[in-house]
Amino acid sequence: MSSGNSIESVLHETRSFPPSAEFSAQANIKSQEEYQQMWQRAKDDPAGFWGDMAENLDWFKKYDSVLEGDMPETKWFSGGKLNASYQCLDRHLDSWRKNKAAIIWEGEPGDVRVLRYQDLYREVCKFANVLKSLGVETGDRVTLYMPMIPELAIAMLACARIGAPHSIIFGGFSSEAIADRNNDAQAKVVVTADGGWRRGKVVPLKANVDGSLDKSPSVQKVVVVRRTGCDVDMVPDRDYWWHDLAEKASPDCDPVELDSEHPLYILYTSGSTGKPKGVLHTTAGYMLGTTMTSKWVFDLKEDDTYWCTADIGWVTGHSYIVYGPLSNGATTLMYEGAPNWPDEGRFWEIVEKYQVNIFYTAPTAIRAFIKWGDDWPAKSDLSSLRLLGTVGEPISPDAWMWYHKTIGQERCPIVDTWWQTETGGIMLSPLPGVTATKPGSCTTPLPGVVPDIVTEEGESLGDNQGGLLVMKQPWPHMLRTLYGDHDRFLDVYFSKIDGCYFAGDGARRDEDGCYWIMGRVDDVINVAGHRLSTMEVESALGAHSAVAEAAVVGFPHEIKGEGICCFVTLKTADGTDELKKELIAHVRTQIGAIATPDQIRFAAAVPKTRSGKIMRRLLRDIAAGKESVGDTTTLEDYSVLASLRAEDG
Ligand code: WT7
Repeated sequence: MSSGNSIESVLHETRSFPPSAEFSAQANIKSQEEYQQMWQRAKDDPAGFWGDMAENLDWFKKYDSVLEGDMPETKWFSGGKLNASYQCLDRHLDSWRKNKAAIIWEGEPGDVRVLRYQDLYREVCKFANVLKSLGVETGDRVTLYMPMIPELAIAMLACARIGAPHSIIFGGFSSEAIADRNNDAQAKVVVTADGGWRRGKVVPLKANVDGSLDKSPSVQKVVVVRRTGCDVDMVPDRDYWWHDLAEKASPDCDPVELDSEHPLYILYTSGSTGKPKGVLHTTAGYMLGTTMTSKWVFDLKEDDTYWCTADIGWVTGHSYIVYGPLSNGATTLMYEGAPNWPDEGRFWEIVEKYQVNIFYTAPTAIRAFIKWGDDWPAKSDLSSLRLLGTVGEPISPDAWMWYHKTIGQERCPIVDTWWQTETGGIMLSPLPGVTATKPGSCTTPLPGVVPDIVTEEGESLGDNQGGLLVMKQPWPHMLRTLYGDHDRFLDVYFSKIDGCYFAGDGARRDEDGCYWIMGRVDDVINVAGHRLSTMEVESALGAHSAVAEAAVVGFPHEIKGEGICCFVTLKTADGTDELKKELIAHVRTQIGAIATPDQIRFAAAVPKTRSGKIMRRLLRDIAAGKESVGDTTTLEDYSVLASLRAEDG
């Protein structure tokens, strides 16, 4: 916090890119007037607005009321009955869409599968019956720890069909992390694969699950997809091959008629303290939010091929590979592997091969593309692209301009979408046929989103004053609780600013009403677009026998956005390179490859305030190699600083 009560903002970007008249004319939302009118209506009369939007869902029983209560305790569409898998599948089958490609999938080795809506429907029904045969009932939790293969989407929709909330764990997490999540969710069944392909190597998913099971007593059965053919241990009466069970299963399975507020899924995400948070989303509100935002922001059209490059293990994949696109009857492309396998041109070959029209990726990927050079995209024909998107972290104006010129060929609008695991769907984003975009800004709120920028005391700030980003009005796709810990839900999101949802991000709003995200204001770091808590890495390090204390901070990283820097004080051992390697390996076993430290710095002590709080700001400056370290008046021991700087990487 700088002068007064606001956060200093240094970015001044004045370029602006209005949509072309051609794009606007064909867009789902066509004009500033249309957007303004929707936004105002949703603000003044949320129940009326969202009630109208709810016509886009298929209801087994219509709801009695659109919205009950206010933040943080809201209920949407009370009395209504519906099913998310029905929204994504059944409702498309009585039209020509039954033969439309729902999922176009390409494996890393180059194998291809296309599932038409009726194929996907049949596979989902079969697997829903498999889950039932394994004892999964409505309300039971199922863990999915899978590669990016069609069976992952099938398993999600099968869970949704029988009302068993899924909890998807990204394949980069370790056995320890799987066990924690299995236990928190009390999962009954785990669905996994023998392995998944990543840069030509097998990620040993089943072996990782095996390593978690003696610590996850709630898990009774494991279903394994044969993907790579690698060797796995199969324990009789516990482990089953997917194909064995699915072969015998009936292709008919009625969707369960679920309450609007029935839990659809849990997704674990990092917070600034303590264990991962089980963000819980429910059926009607989440489906409505992802359905409408997909239509508005990605401007989905019947003949589009849409590709979101995220992993389904993150919320982006949940909302914008599976639920949003399929609910709209779109064709969603799924790719299993790495962008640089077998070479750095892979993504652009895929764009050309499938004539991708809409491409949604992350700034960390864009930075990698820039580094790999313009020759790679130049090898492929990118003329099918009509719209580009980005998500996960602030994108620098330079990277935005590169994306605009080199990939979008100055023809495609870019939607920079700000949202969170907790918000369920996109909140702030350009509408591609309406908004004049600005490099680095996620621009304006979608209809139904009422944000503000406030001080720590909750006072609204003026134009261009940095502060805390909050939401002042509830939206249908917001999280309902943190699984098993409602108090933490209230505390984390609703106790900081009275009556508002607090996002954890700093931001400013410019004179045109456009939002500029300035990053997290808590102890969460954003590594390659994924949230990690510095606390989690600290406790993982603290669990190693040689470590006395650890302090972890982010530092600017060319590709990943932020890298992980660990300051470690040792009990007695020497700070050798061997030990550095061991500590890195240790964090990978405790949390997983996604938390791999970039730097370990041994230190005699970490700087603390007189009250014993680690001075992360100082450590951040040191990790970033900055000389001036700002205000040190509350530092307990000045000599610590000099010795930390002397210890280099
Ligand atoms: C955090 C949420 C939402 C899917 C991916 C991440 C940052 C996200 C943007 C953006 C600037 C962004 C924020 C947010 N973030 N999108 N367009 N511009 N920052 O989901 O893991 O829940 O992380 O990602 O800091 O709080 P997540």
